[in-house]
Amino acid sequence: MLNPDTNQRLCRVGPDDAMGRAMRRYWLPFMPAAELAIGEDPRGVELLGERFVAWRDDSGRAGLYHQSCLHRGASMRLARAEGDGLRCIYHGWKFAVDGTVLDTPNVADPAFKARIKGRTCAVREAGGLLWAYLGPREHEPEFPRWPWMDLPDAQRLITRHVEECNFVQVIEGLVDSSHLGLLHMNGLQQSGAVDLGFAQKVNSMQRNLAPRLDVQDTDFGFYYAALRDIDDEAGPRTEARVAAFVAPCCVLNPNGDIATFVVPIDDERTAFLHIFWSETQEINREPLRSRHLEFIGLTPEVLDAFGLTDDTLGRADRPNPRNHFHQDREAMRLGKSWSGLPGLIEEDVAASVSAGALRDRAHEMLSIADVGITRLYRTLLACADAVDQGRAPLGIARGVDWSRVQGTHGVLASEDWRDLVAGRREPATEGAA
Ligand code: FES
Ligand SMILES: [Fe+2]
Repeated sequence: MLNPDTNQRLCRVGPDDAMGRAMRRYWLPFMPAAELAIGEDPRGVELLGERFVAWRDDSGRAGLYHQSCLHRGASMRLARAEGDGLRCIYHGWKFAVDGTVLDTPNVADPAFKARIKGRTCAVREAGGLLWAYLGPREHEPEFPRWPWMDLPDAQRLITRHVEECNFVQVIEGLVDSSHLGLLHMNGLQQSGAVDLGFAQKVNSMQRNLAPRLDVQDTDFGFYYAALRDIDDEAGPRTEARVAAFVAPCCVLNPNGDIATFVVPIDDERTAFLHIFWSETQEINREPLRSRHLEFIGLTPEVLDAFGLTDDTLGRADRPNPRNHFHQDREAMRLGKSWSGLPGLIEEDVAASVSAGALRDRAHEMLSIADVGITRLYRTLLACADAVDQGRAPLGIARGVDWSRVQGTHGVLASEDWRDLVAGRREPATEGAA
């Protein structure tokens, strides 16, 4: 339970909000790199409640411009794409992707443009994603080098969808193992029959609906473990699924080959990026690509039908809270469907979004099943507090070895699930900002 003030502090991400200031201290992925082609028109991007324009110059460098022009605020979304820079149509000021001012045709003095800098953000391209740093330049952190960034594109499958609610309630679903066997029971029941590595890894979850849960603070966020005692034809054992929450908005799935980034568009809309990778298979090539997407329910057709794309979000003819997400009550009555929703993603979206665009936490009744949720609140609020107090937030106070941060799963061989996490890290000593 959180009082309304603390809830707002937790959730709001604008430039003047505590959590917004904290989130601006991290590198955030804002779109799949393949979606921004050389020579394309400038693309609108919304991130943390602010409007930007993404564009790739003719040498392939990607840039993220504040939407309003440095001069007098005309929209750079309307700018002319001129190969080496974007030129505002109002008075023709032209900016390179790194903010260098290339031309100011209405100011004759050539020295003028050398003294000013365009309103661009630091951008990196890595792991098939474009990343931005929106915070103060003097606090720009080291760029996180995840091992999956070094794989070939063919071995990495990236999807993006959007949801109509605050980012915190979307992350909650990722550190909430006990909903899997219930909300997603139909999908899990099918998973044993599907010969995809992904499906096999989640198959045991349906066999114990009340996992024991535990958390461990780390210097990047926390590990979250769900332990299930299982006794079946394979014999009695305890299976552990361990997720890593990486501040401020990443969860490494216990499957060990999925990273999810839950990036606020604004206070009430969220972009959800999945990165699936394989050390051995070209999962981004057909037929594996389509099979993965179909099993998880992230095909372009599903995203469009459920209103999870930029173009369809909030449309009245798509499933949404006002039409109860087109829930199929008949299928529920007939015992054909637990949730009345078509797939895993739709179930998660409906569960998150139906709680309200920015859900009220004053009346929630958290239980022992929600240790991941309370730890999430505490960790995010600690990040906001750190920045407010002039310190660096979690994961930035001292360099994190990203190659050792992982989600994982397995049968417990020892008493302590932490032994499964080779790269386990203790909480950071607080460093200076
Ligand atoms: S407003 Fe952009 S050049 Fe004047
Ligand atoms: Fe879920």
